[in-house]
Amino acid sequence: MSSPQSGISARKHRTSKTAVLAASVRAYHQQQSKSPVFADDYAVDMVPFIWRVIAKNKLLGWFVVHKVFHLFRPVHTEVLLRARYAEDRLMEAISEGVGQYVILGAGLDTFSMRHKELADSVRIFELDHPATQATKEKQVRAVNGDVPSNLVFVPIDFETDQLNEVLIRAGFDSQKPAFFSWLGTTYYLTKDAIRETLGRVADVAAPGSRIVFDYKLARHLIPEESLPFADRLDRFVARRGEPMLSVFTPEDLNDEMSQIGFVEIETIPAEEQKRRYLKDRSDLVDPAPNFSFALFGVQ
Ligand SMILES: C[S@@+](CC[C@H](N)C(=O)[O-])C[C@H]1O[C@@H](n2cnc3c(N)ncnc32)[C@H](O)[C@@H]1O
Repeated sequence: MSSPQSGISARKHRTSKTAVLAASVRAYHQQQSKSPVFADDYAVDMVPFIWRVIAKNKLLGWFVVHKVFHLFRPVHTEVLLRARYAEDRLMEAISEGVGQYVILGAGLDTFSMRHKELADSVRIFELDHPATQATKEKQVRAVNGDVPSNLVFVPIDFETDQLNEVLIRAGFDSQKPAFFSWLGTTYYLTKDAIRETLGRVADVAAPGSRIVFDYKLARHLIPEESLPFADRLDRFVARRGEPMLSVFTPEDLNDEMSQIGFVEIETIPAEEQKRRYLKDRSDLVDPAPNFSFALFGVQ
């Protein structure tokens, strides 16, 4: 594999800050919402102490979300909805008999602990950078007593490692369909790294497999009034050492995906996310307009 640059390459040695922020959003929402749009009762145990306190303390949490980070509340919504959308599609696939779930860039995802009923029917492969994964594994052991029996931790660097080979070595069965998710990550990689990773997924996945991911929309597709928000978000993540590097139009994405063997199932822009998941809710603002969800199948 070539060595396309990633937004996190300079910070490989430590736990991904954006993974911690995403899990903190899920933790706060779970602790403070009466009817979570995405239920994650383990998230609070996965985040560092300070975020645990913020998530559990109603007043402090409100201050952090509504005052300190109020400009980023659309991202807060996106983090919750992408997880909800991905797991809704995953559960459909599982109900159709899919028995392998591959989480690319898993961060502090807790699916394996939340769904112990699937221990005998679904193998879960969590792929992440070794630094983030080491912290994650320690925390899973602390919270769960042990690593769930159906969970396999697979350390990888998408920039340099060959995903298909790494997965096969970890016990993935390329003859059986699988469900892949890749959330909160594509935009931190170069297009070369995204293409390379998706190409390797297409190589290793049996026909009938599916992948869900979120991607950042090209600037000209973002409504004028949301551009200041989009620019502020770019600066915020770049300052944390994880600059966003890639954007797509839905058409470009479809072209790229069909060239590597995927067929589009659906694309979900922000207004459709809102329509599906935010009806009659006042606790969440509209999702960030610069991210869409995509679901593709392997031909
Ligand atoms: C924003 S976090 C998202 C985590 C999780 N999917 C979520 O939605 O909460 C991005 C994740 O991608 C991983 N990641 C980014 N670039 C990577 C690379 N080149 N190789 C392996 N993992 C990478 C990070 O370690 C991190 O866990």
